[in-house]
Amino acid sequence: MEILHVSAECYPVAKAGGLGDVVGALPKYQTAAGHIAKVVMPMYKTKFLYNNQFDVVHKGYTNLGNWWFIYTVIKERNNALGFDLYLVDINGLLDRDKIYGYDDDSERFISFQIAVVDWLASWKHHPDVVHVHDHQAALIPFMMKHCYRYQHLRDIPTVLTIHNAEYQGWLSWDKSYYIPAWDTWKSGLLEWNKSINALACGVRCAWKVTTVSWSYLEELRWAANGLEALFEYEKGKCYGILNGIDTKVWDPATDTYLENHYDIKSNAAGKTKNKEILCKRFGLDIEKPLIAFIGRLVGEKGADLLAQAIGDSFYYIGRKMNFLILGSGASYIQDGLERVSILSDGDFSIFIGYDEALSHVIYAGADFILMPSRVEPCGLNQMYAMRYGTVPIVRATGGLRDTVKDFGDPDGYGIRFSNAIVGDITHALWRAVQLYQEPLLMEELRRRMMRLDFSWETSMQQYLDLYASL
Ligand code: ADP
Ligand code: GLC
Repeated sequence: MEILHVSAECYPVAKAGGLGDVVGALPKYQTAAGHIAKVVMPMYKTKFLYNNQFDVVHKGYTNLGNWWFIYTVIKERNNALGFDLYLVDINGLLDRDKIYGYDDDSERFISFQIAVVDWLASWKHHPDVVHVHDHQAALIPFMMKHCYRYQHLRDIPTVLTIHNAEYQGWLSWDKSYYIPAWDTWKSGLLEWNKSINALACGVRCAWKVTTVSWSYLEELRWAANGLEALFEYEKGKCYGILNGIDTKVWDPATDTYLENHYDIKSNAAGKTKNKEILCKRFGLDIEKPLIAFIGRLVGEKGADLLAQAIGDSFYYIGRKMNFLILGSGASYIQDGLERVSILSDGDFSIFIGYDEALSHVIYAGADFILMPSRVEPCGLNQMYAMRYGTVPIVRATGGLRDTVKDFGDPDGYGIRFSNAIVGDITHALWRAVQLYQEPLLMEELRRRMMRLDFSWETSMQQYLDLYASL
């Protein structure tokens, strides 16, 4: 089968979160299974661009409303990622340092989608499926079906994977002229709540829709940032397929970011050595359990609850644990956490920023990973943590519910709590501190987790079956 993935992120080319990890891994496993998987994404100014070689494969001329632009599609030359990688260059619009966060993100990603469809229209053959990811690519199924100039693409099957329905790609109707001329009888497909909504449009127009865990698919029918009724109505075409992890990149025995490697047998010694590195660097006490948080500091991740939960646990449980936070996001959350860390007397350290290498050392060296998410469509952190023998402390929602069993349940290994509130987090932290006092049980849980299989094999097959059904 030939699959064209369209995404705003792909690791290691450009990653802001889990979307990048998934689009960097799934096509690799699809290619290894004998299929042709291609990824097309915007050409940002990233290290990967400068460290690899590319060939120009297509140049086109198209328009975003009244603005006509030249786009160039380049292809990575040496199969560095294990699949075909294509980057779309639109001068001045996509070639920037960051992936998101510009005032003209709507223009950037709509132009990207137009360029992708325009390029696809120039192919001499059709791929078997176009697989689009999140709202930055979700207008593509509509364009392929209903825009006059791309009518010959209408029979190519499309799949939309929703990694996060909180972000939907809203566009006011006065900018509707950005979208290439379409059959106006179909305008309703673009609209949700009086504006153009790329994600809602993708849900309606893609042949099939997937979400990245089963529980998240259920939850979307009552909590989808305004799209609940749509998910209820379209439930017949929606499927939950749990993400996998790239077990070649994320393996404590070979991880290139780690100085101290370990496997299931040597986990205790290996983790301790990595913990020493962290404790030394961040001035923490190696004797205490190390509880880490890695991720975007936003409300969706429950990051706004951390400062109070940490303060409360010092007060109620005592200074019996260390906290380490790696992340960046809303400034009010960052400031609050920095204040608590300054006052915390060496029990709590925070690193504001994005640091891939440090994240790997934390998965390896921490004893626990805390994820108090309000919304977690899948979550990769807990799966990485478990592969590295680190006990996840999670709010049971979305993919966290589907992947973490509480250690109080038969064959369990993690710590689960029900509500994204300070009281529940503090109680879960108390359980973690108690658990840490039982080294034999900790060792047993680490072994259980490290034996779990979160590889892509099963999920990849589910995607292939879904494509085949189209
Ligand atoms: P999301 O995509 O919602 O942010 P996921 O759990 O799916 O959440 O994936 C997050 C990914 O981003 C993981 O690979 C995690 O290690 C990584 N990550 C998040 N924040 C940082 C950071 N500040 N530094 C390094 N890696 C980070
Ligand atoms: C999103 C979700 C996260 C998921 C990731 C990859 O960013 O927030 O839960 O793991 O996409 O699918």
